[in-house]
Amino acid sequence: MRSVIGINDLSVQEIDDLISTAKDIIANPAKYSDVCKGKKLATLFFEPSTRTRLSFEAAMYELGGNVIGFSEPNSSSASKGESVADTSKILSCYADILVMRHYKEGAPYVASRNATVPVINAGDGGHNHPTQTLADLLTINRCKGKLSDITIGYCGDLKYGRTVHSLISALSRYTGIKTVLIAPDKLALPGYIRKDVLEKNCMPYKQVSSLEEAIPELDVLYMTRLQRERFATDDEYECLKNSFILTPDKLVDAKKDMCILHPLPRVNEISVAVDEDQRAKYFEQALNGKYMRMALIMKLLEAAKDGNKEAELEHRTDLVCDNPRCITATEQELQHKFVLTDEERGTYRCIYCDTKAR
Ligand code: CP
Repeated sequence: MRSVIGINDLSVQEIDDLISTAKDIIANPAKYSDVCKGKKLATLFFEPSTRTRLSFEAAMYELGGNVIGFSEPNSSSASKGESVADTSKILSCYADILVMRHYKEGAPYVASRNATVPVINAGDGGHNHPTQTLADLLTINRCKGKLSDITIGYCGDLKYGRTVHSLISALSRYTGIKTVLIAPDKLALPGYIRKDVLEKNCMPYKQVSSLEEAIPELDVLYMTRLQRERFATDDEYECLKNSFILTPDKLVDAKKDMCILHPLPRVNEISVAVDEDQRAKYFEQALNGKYMRMALIMKLLEAAKDGNKEAELEHRTDLVCDNPRCITATEQELQHKFVLTDEERGTYRCIYCDTKAR
């Protein structure tokens, strides 16, 4: 069954097609008002959400379908100890497509291996958030008219910011992308993304510690919230929470057509005064998310008609994932599985959370 767990589950052609469909939905909404009639989407949210859950729900309603689900785990049988695998099997009996957000990395992947309907990852721990990336890509495309030949700066929590990880991966498949990483050392981009995505794809990048220094060359500035819920201690968060705050004075040297994105919610990293700036596109970005989710729901429901289950990658089971945020850390009966990523170095990655092992 075709699912979307990471952004690379979609080819560049498929992403470009989704963008075209989203633009057609924007231009001709009535054309799509009935296409999911009789279909149900289930939202399985084990972590809080405003935009992702409600835009998925709005998307399904605007396609003429219906929605069931839960918005926090305590109102589901997960609170009694039911596994992600069992929950997914059960929800497959009630809905035509599942959307899952989970605090454990790899949980939506486990769901996709057990569900008999398509599964969409709506954010798993600090790992991936592919539909946010679809919203980001449509926004960049509508602002800049292209997804190639841009310089993009990512600012804030690049360690736990799953939206950054997914967007860097997506843009690695377009040409002429220059990346500027703006983060405190403690929140730097994980090594596996620097090495396996930026360096492996020969993408020019630099790491800087000053937002003011980076801004003049940027076509896109992608601000992020510090992911407080993923910090080991509150003290660590308190030390870093004011590291980068975008205020109007910092935009004086920015390009006149730079676009400012943020997956939202924001805390204090973009001052409210910036909202008046015509370069602020984060509220449009949230709306674009609904259109891209409409396009994705239609695509996956269409693909589900052939009923084929995707083959599992060849893997080994004698390695153990040591990431405490991995779904294998809590679901004890889940078999650890690793796939080969670098034959020369003998490096493997956990199929759930991408943690490396040798
Ligand atoms: N951008 C995003 O994922 O927002 P929510 O957490 O509100 O869904």
